[in-house]
Amino acid sequence: MADKIWAGRASQAVDAAADSFNSSIGFDSRMYAQDIKGSMAHAAMLQAQGIISAADGEAIAAGLEAILADLESGALTVDPAAEDIHSFVEAELTKRVGDPGRRLHTARSRNDQVALDVRMYLRERTENTVSLIKNLISTICTVAEEYAFTVMPGYTHLQRAQPITFGHHLMAYAMMLLRDAGRLNDASKRMNVSPLGSCALAGTTYPIDRAMTAAALGFDGATMNSLDGVADRDFCVELAAALALMMTHLSRFAEEIILWSSWEFRFVELSDAYSTGSSIMPQKKNSDMAELVRGKTGRVYGDLMALLTMLKGLPLAYNKDMQEDKEQIFDAFDTADACLTVFAPMTGTMTVKADNMRRAAGTGFINATDLADWLVSRDVPFRTAYKLTGQIVAECTRLGVTLEELPLEKYKEFSPLFDGTLYDAIDIDNCVSRRTSYGGPTGDSVLAQVKAVRAML
Ligand code: ARG
Repeated sequence: MADKIWAGRASQAVDAAADSFNSSIGFDSRMYAQDIKGSMAHAAMLQAQGIISAADGEAIAAGLEAILADLESGALTVDPAAEDIHSFVEAELTKRVGDPGRRLHTARSRNDQVALDVRMYLRERTENTVSLIKNLISTICTVAEEYAFTVMPGYTHLQRAQPITFGHHLMAYAMMLLRDAGRLNDASKRMNVSPLGSCALAGTTYPIDRAMTAAALGFDGATMNSLDGVADRDFCVELAAALALMMTHLSRFAEEIILWSSWEFRFVELSDAYSTGSSIMPQKKNSDMAELVRGKTGRVYGDLMALLTMLKGLPLAYNKDMQEDKEQIFDAFDTADACLTVFAPMTGTMTVKADNMRRAAGTGFINATDLADWLVSRDVPFRTAYKLTGQIVAECTRLGVTLEELPLEKYKEFSPLFDGTLYDAIDIDNCVSRRTSYGGPTGDSVLAQVKAVRAML
């Protein structure tokens, strides 16, 4: 009982199972550096405001610095029996410097302390995840640039639709990931306000300087309402939502890589370094990394849902339910980072089977729209041209030929307007290179997208 920082009122020790149920040290000790830096800023402010003496302030600062160094070097390990990282650091400080350590928590509560630590920790994590996303985007740009002019079938409903380039297809993912990085940065900016000095819920009678600690810890300012300061976990939800959507994008990309790697497609082959084999089937090469990314997406959705549900019924201000914020948001970051870390090299090292893509583009009548457009150029209304082309496709299917293989005499049976220039219009490579509308699939458009995206990185 005596080792609890809140010992005093109670006459009976907490039941052992209840104590371990209540503890968060198993997952909040990863915030030790943020906790110590927050305490250093708090103590320096208490000293500057004359709330503690210079001697106490200096003893606290030296003690905290030594604890941080010892934790970093491994000379000190976190006590797994401590209730949480906040009480562990305070107890260790008091053990080392005595009474000054007992003055550290003046004008502070674990409620504003934990809100501060989580914000500082997630600020770093967000920056790191954004750089992992940018790294993946830059890998995508490299591959897209190499295959800017590689023709492949574009799909809708997973049916061959119209010809595009592989570079264009890849750059679609770069756009999604750019928005993901933007969302994380937006959430981080909104989060970057210091709750320290909100205290338990109602501020304090001590003459604290919240602007001073906020500035010392790199925040843009201090939270304006002390209840909100300790009760807000919107930033966890926002970041989890941004990560969940990013995982959606990785999962769609993963699904395509899995499809493309199959014998049915054979558009890409993953490097042996990013695939696995089967324990029984000697020929197998499985895209386990991509499948795991797709699978882990559900975890991050679960983290988001758990955070939203944890908050929805809570009266103001702090409630212990909020201790559940950390495992969820930490898991969301850990999972997203792990996925991004394998995704970039997996994408960068895959072999692109350009010939297979080009061959696939040759069947499936993906130039049918272009045939209809040729008729439109002869002043046939589009809907009429569409219907006529449909009948020609049906005839080709009957004869087992492509649109390019159907002789001109056959075309003329459908319309006297047809002449030899139609073959130029339905040439698959021309179908791509003539789609010059802004944001389209041509090799030049891909190179322009790559250039613009690189400039944004
Ligand atoms: N371990 C707690 C958490 O993660 C720290 C705050 C505890 N505050 C309290 N009033 N019990 O939320």
